[in-house]
Amino acid sequence: MTAADTAADTVAAPLLSVRDLTVTYAPPRRRGSLGTGAALSGVDLEIHAGEIVGVVGETGSGKTTLARATVGLVQPAAGSIDFAGAELGGLRGRELRDFRRTGQVQLAFQDPLRSLDGDLTVAQVVGEPLEIVGTDRAERRRRVDEALALVGLEPTFRDRYPRQLSGGQRQRVSLARAIVTRPRLLFCDEPVSALDVSNRNLVLRLLDRLREELGLAVVIIAHDLSSLAGIADRVAVFYRGRLVEQGPISEVLERPAHPYTALLAASAPSVQHEDRLRPEQLRHPAGDVAREWPPGACVFAARCAFAHDACHEQPALAPAPDTARRTAACHVADTWRARLTTTTTAPGKVPST
Ligand SMILES: Nc1ncnc2c1ncn2[C@@H]1O[C@H](COP(=O)(O)OP(=O)(O)OP(=O)(O)O)[C@@H](O)[C@H]1O
Ligand code: SF4
Ligand SMILES: [Mg+2]
Repeated sequence: MTAADTAADTVAAPLLSVRDLTVTYAPPRRRGSLGTGAALSGVDLEIHAGEIVGVVGETGSGKTTLARATVGLVQPAAGSIDFAGAELGGLRGRELRDFRRTGQVQLAFQDPLRSLDGDLTVAQVVGEPLEIVGTDRAERRRRVDEALALVGLEPTFRDRYPRQLSGGQRQRVSLARAIVTRPRLLFCDEPVSALDVSNRNLVLRLLDRLREELGLAVVIIAHDLSSLAGIADRVAVFYRGRLVEQGPISEVLERPAHPYTALLAASAPSVQHEDRLRPEQLRHPAGDVAREWPPGACVFAARCAFAHDACHEQPALAPAPDTARRTAACHVADTWRARLTTTTTAPGKVPST
């Protein structure tokens, strides 16, 4: 292998590589209570430096868990989390604390008001991660001002309290806190879901600028595909703890390969694509309630209009039919579109369990 090959490999290597990641939360400590099952199962995902990746899925699909596992707030039950060549999944105790102190992977929390300590000023909230790192006072002040400027807040915001800020301003403070350690990878958990349209666009543009100016990789967690259009390079779609489709966002929006992604796109009125489908073409008319599938079946089987016998087994992610850049976990990713008309008039047989 030549030096040039080695350099090319280094450039192409993902910053984050998650393999077969499974996270299971412990059941509540109550007699007779049930466990929550796996919050994430067998997830494979790569994030490259300088890219914005959207993570989408309905509530409870495991989006926050993916971020929490990567920053070390929850331990994986199985699988690996490789960050810039270092395995994070197995870190415990002091090793984990040492890694978190570097601030290389940061998480801007889902609910900025709850995550920001009301008794601390903006400067204290933003500077807190630097205290943990051990940065001295003068440098901390400089870095806090720099982070506030990067998110578009004047130095006069330093002495305000979070309760004295608007929702958009709080979101910016949350971002400033997340970037103050100059991370290489930033997870933003639903950064815009609580904002109005104009603040939403401002925050999304800000993330794009931070990516460009700091060379950050950014993961934006969202409920819907439409909020990511025009900002994310790639999107990863989750359903009940499984990654069901991932690829360039333009391709995923244009021609979803997984029926669940198609349902998400069909349910988002602002998503424009050539062959717009209707949700009722993709959902099984029986709905969730009447249909039970055994453990190990495709996670989407209960709702899927195209479920059939093969779906008793969860499919692995495989290249989507029309492109090598996209993967989807559906046994009939290449044929379900052809069945659209017949399926809507004659739904597949529901298995008895
Ligand atoms: N601390 C916890 N203890 C037990 N179960 C949990 C815990 N946190 C999350 N879960 C469960 O794990 C699953 C995934 O949760 P997660 O918070 O990752 O979902 P999410 O996709 O981020 O949802 P939302 O869009 O509502 O934020 C859910 O079933 C949830 O109830
Ligand atoms: S594998 Fe089967 S149930 Fe799952 S999405 Fe594809 S057709 Fe639907
Ligand atoms: Mg969440």
